[in-house]
Amino acid sequence: MRLLASWRPRPHPIPVWVYIATVTGVAIVLTLNAPLADQSISVLELLLFLILAAVVETMAVRVPNLGAVSATLAVQVATVGVIAGREAVIVMALAMVAAKLLRRQPVEISVLNGAFAAIELGAALQVIRLLRVGQGFAYPEDLVALFLAGGVKLVVNIFLVNGIILLDGKTNLRTALRSGLGSILVPYVALMPMACLMVVIYYSPARMIGILLFLVPLLFARYSFLAYLELRQSHLETVEALAAALDAKDSYSKGHSDRVAKLAKETAEVMGLRAGKVEEIEYAGRLHDIGKIGVPDALLNKPGPLTAEELSRVRQHATLGADMIKPVSFLRNVAEIVRYHHEWYDGGGYPGGLREEQIPIGARILAVCDAWDAMTTDRSYRRALDPQEALQRLRAGAGTQFDPRVVEAFTKVLARRQAEGSSSSTAALTVPPSSSLLSASPAAVEQAAATTEKK
Ligand SMILES: [Fe+2]
Repeated sequence: MRLLASWRPRPHPIPVWVYIATVTGVAIVLTLNAPLADQSISVLELLLFLILAAVVETMAVRVPNLGAVSATLAVQVATVGVIAGREAVIVMALAMVAAKLLRRQPVEISVLNGAFAAIELGAALQVIRLLRVGQGFAYPEDLVALFLAGGVKLVVNIFLVNGIILLDGKTNLRTALRSGLGSILVPYVALMPMACLMVVIYYSPARMIGILLFLVPLLFARYSFLAYLELRQSHLETVEALAAALDAKDSYSKGHSDRVAKLAKETAEVMGLRAGKVEEIEYAGRLHDIGKIGVPDALLNKPGPLTAEELSRVRQHATLGADMIKPVSFLRNVAEIVRYHHEWYDGGGYPGGLREEQIPIGARILAVCDAWDAMTTDRSYRRALDPQEALQRLRAGAGTQFDPRVVEAFTKVLARRQAEGSSSSTAALTVPPSSSLLSASPAAVEQAAATTEKK
């Protein structure tokens, strides 16, 4: 009651409210028209399935950039597999609403998730009723039926979830579907065998007790997973501290890494890269110049031209940075992006002289975002470039310094930011014209990493 009393309408756009109302209405109509189970199910069993699903969903662990991870799919499909009627759909929808409210989600979002579950499991129920042989577990027919039902449930989920994301205007259909399909494969492969096992156990002498015992390994898996996430977070915080040390060392590039990280993340998303890759690229953006910690300040801030030896010392920051973060196991791919963020698409960059597809995609994305941010912000040695001019330089460098596909995607990011009135992009696109980057000293050019001239 306290939860309901504290409910206030959220500032969702009108289309989102219409979507919530429509999906909920459709869920109610479909559920009321779904067939009842053929066998009688006790209220106690229905209650136990409801509690099990609600507890498992409440135990979901939030993973950065991936969303919530839980074993709910297994419990939902197993429940529909065992009960095979409208009762299962209602119980699972109620469990979802209860779990979301317990996790302090807004009421309307909790109801929407319940409606999603009802529609998805209603579709899964049709598959089960069409393909299942009868009571008990018939191998291999019921295995196929359950796997197909789980697949149908997840695909319907992608369409329903993307509906609301699209209405919120935070993504486009292609990106949403690609990342949705990419993210269902692992849970599907991991959880569907568990769903089948739960159905088998239900028809064994253990019945519901056997199914409830599933909570024990699930709790242990959750504990282990949380410990892993904590360890990962502490590694990341250590590296972030290094990045902050770099910011403190060079006040002119303060905030540069953060801006590059955000731009690189958005560009990677526009290019339709999978969520894990996008996350790596974002980290790489934050850490790409970390190796400058090992380069003397006198060189980084030298106002005059650099000697060949000094230039090569400054250029070592890419390799130095990669070697610094490589020992952190989950940043191994990030290290390779950092190592190659100064490679040129035509092979004229450093340190490896790699070209085209030999350069990791993350490094090709960073090269563009790094150049853009360096060109459009004030430095000690020059004023910021006019954004239009900076964009022209990026375009002029497409095919030589930059990957043309990345430049194209980056242009879309800028256009989107401008349309949304995002503070950073708006600032970037309204900076007054000033002196050319080409007038900067070699040290400055190296530090900015931002010209279509070869250096
Ligand atoms: Fe760099």
